[in-house]
Amino acid sequence: MRVFVTRDLPGRGLDRLRHEPGLHVDLWPEEFPPPRSAMLERTANAAGLLCLITDRVDADLLEHAGPQLKVVSQMAVGVDNIDVAACAARGIPVGNTPGVLTETTADLAFALLLAAARRLVEAASYVRLGQWRTWSPTTLAGADIHGATLGIIGFGAIGQALATRATGFGMRTLYWSRRQKPQAAERLGASYQDLPALLAQSDFVSVHCALTAETHHLIDADALACMPAHAILINTARGPLVDEAALIEALRNRRIAGAALDVTTTEPIEPDNPLLAMPNVIVLPHIGSASLATRTKMADLAVDNLLAGLRGQPLPHQIPPPEPRTR
Ligand code: DGY
Repeated sequence: MRVFVTRDLPGRGLDRLRHEPGLHVDLWPEEFPPPRSAMLERTANAAGLLCLITDRVDADLLEHAGPQLKVVSQMAVGVDNIDVAACAARGIPVGNTPGVLTETTADLAFALLLAAARRLVEAASYVRLGQWRTWSPTTLAGADIHGATLGIIGFGAIGQALATRATGFGMRTLYWSRRQKPQAAERLGASYQDLPALLAQSDFVSVHCALTAETHHLIDADALACMPAHAILINTARGPLVDEAALIEALRNRRIAGAALDVTTTEPIEPDNPLLAMPNVIVLPHIGSASLATRTKMADLAVDNLLAGLRGQPLPHQIPPPEPRTR
């Protein structure tokens, strides 16, 4: 039995697979993701696929893979690169790695909030470029975090972990999510608002939704128009939650004050993307979960899911098949 693993993994996950009797691990050894032709070729006749957010798993790939494919295990919490409905139609469970990355990702979202508010990236390059000649009352003056209002869009585990951090900094927290979460909100001192009201009242808006057909471009030109001119948008979830063209426009027109993005519409971002030329924008290369400890835990969970699927057992973390659409 062969499994295709699309990248080297941190920790002991690969060793665990290699020690599994009768299992051959076919590892893609490169730093860059397998090109489509390699994905098709190496998934064909495999019993399991362990993949990353960079690997597209669609109906065509499943068709090529053949009926022996028993499990798709993603080393990430988001699975928008996987056609979960097509997997479900073939009886293939899809695993993901929730929980272990919650705190690490919330840390990064808060780090971006701090960095954007206090202009840390600009300030550090000002020093490196030899521009620091004196102290002046307004040089690199930014926005206060204490006492400011944080609007959290998507109040799942990561959104709630961000609210915990906001409490420590004396912020007021608002949230919006598809379903209200009164218990978590009470525990975290957050209050529910509808989306336009949240956008209108927040000094910082941080996005934490899963990317689905419903949430695609949730932050569009209309949403950006609701935000105050001093507001800063933070996105550590998925790039296409934000209409990037509308964001560029809003930043150019000073409709909002800045953005701090760990995710972008195209990843890696194109070098000529206008966002990269804006001093009030921070762009990171999708590193929300990137602590070594967390990435190791994610790899371990992905291996747990893969092994369970190969054994025909329920996956420890399985994505529920999508509900059939009603008209
Ligand atoms: C995820 O898990 O979905 C992140 O985007 C990668 O850690």
